[in-house]
Amino acid sequence: MRSKKQYYIRTFGCQMNVHDSEQMEELLRNEGFCSTGDDKSADLIIVNTCSIREKAEQKVYSILGRYRGLKQARPDLIIGVGGCMAQQQGTDLFARAPHLDFIFGTHTIHRLPEMIKEVERNRRRLVDTCFHDSVQSIGIVAPPRGGSVSSFVTIMQGCNNFCSFCVVPYVRGREESREIYDIVNEIEVLTRHGVKEVILLGQNVNSYGNTLNNGANFPLLLKEINGVDGIERIRFITSHPKDLSDGLIECFAVLDKVCEHIHLPVQSGSDTMLRRMNRRYTAGDYLGKVEKLREACPRISISTDIIVGFPGESEEDFQKTIDLMEKVRFDSSFSFKYSVRPGTMAERYEDRIPESVKQDRLMKVQKLQERYTLEGNESLKGSVEDILVEGLSKNSSADVTGRTRTNRIVNFPGGTGLIGERVYVRIQNTYIHSLRGELVEKERNWQC
Ligand code: 5AD
Ligand code: SF4
Repeated sequence: MRSKKQYYIRTFGCQMNVHDSEQMEELLRNEGFCSTGDDKSADLIIVNTCSIREKAEQKVYSILGRYRGLKQARPDLIIGVGGCMAQQQGTDLFARAPHLDFIFGTHTIHRLPEMIKEVERNRRRLVDTCFHDSVQSIGIVAPPRGGSVSSFVTIMQGCNNFCSFCVVPYVRGREESREIYDIVNEIEVLTRHGVKEVILLGQNVNSYGNTLNNGANFPLLLKEINGVDGIERIRFITSHPKDLSDGLIECFAVLDKVCEHIHLPVQSGSDTMLRRMNRRYTAGDYLGKVEKLREACPRISISTDIIVGFPGESEEDFQKTIDLMEKVRFDSSFSFKYSVRPGTMAERYEDRIPESVKQDRLMKVQKLQERYTLEGNESLKGSVEDILVEGLSKNSSADVTGRTRTNRIVNFPGGTGLIGERVYVRIQNTYIHSLRGELVEKERNWQC
């Protein structure tokens, strides 16, 4: 007989969701659950959902459909659904998936243990999608499992920007920043678990501190974290172009642990589209920020998000996105076909773009990006890169894998002894999604 109950968590969506799932795992472990990689043998299944685009929601419905069969075969199985879709739909989810036991929102993750106990006790369905002013799960410290050297740290919740296409402000609530001391405390705890790199998470990290009214801001936070012993690298996502200050740009030049990479979603190169998207910057403003970033830090790698086929996007508007891509030559980008989201401002726009046009534009953006990514990677051939080794390579156990400071994946021959080390690697071959190289020297030798 099994002594511990087993949980299985299925996560959809962004890094914020991945980190929320890590926090759920921490709560479940504290309740005596252990993890299983096999949903068929789990006593508890949690589906952490995403509603950013329609496709993400369809995937969730499909997995919930599969779990209906599991529940029929084993009525004792408990199934809970959390995340953005749960937040938005609440009890309505029961109509489509009556086999669910409980539904919790983006602000009620901390109630997970309580909800599970109540379902076990009373065997009745539960929903808690309340919004709380102070998001209590935000500070649950979830040290990464399996000796990972990199860890997410949530610095703020929610978003006040209301971009017209985006559902996030409705499902994650208003922006709320954590205090600097609280974040630094969490990072100090993480270093004691071997963490060397932190990835700071927020929907718009550039506006960090605005809700605190105590002078705290993002550059100040970075400076504090830069001073934490044991932390070697600092990354952050996501930055909003309208709030990218000169102070933050300077951090890339002066704070040694801040890695030379910024994810700066542009969404479109057309001012008409940007206005309709409620982005509050123009293509010219964006290009100006890129110039400043490259002046302050010539090696910086810049990635972006692009939406094609936003309502009313003419061929001319689309061409402006291509023009902007040609000017910036992003190191990488995520591109999406516009997808209508219920409750958003853009839902009301009637001049929708046909699916075939969206598909065609997406292909054009992706093809162009592929060229720039390949060219950017190729330019690194022969260079020696500072790599933080994250683990064994997925493709070969004779190789280890890590990242450059500019966020490119590098594989090279090496063993487990290198995991967690910062080493220097000469780049020999370059591909679209990764680079390959050879170890030059370990950092400590390099510094002698
Ligand atoms: N349709 C398509 N893409 C979207 N994104 C957000 N909402 C939508 C939508 N309704 C994209 C944006 C954002 C990224 C996280 O997802 O590009 O930056
Ligand atoms: Fe969505 Fe805009 Fe907020 Fe990003 S900044 S989460 S795109 S509303």
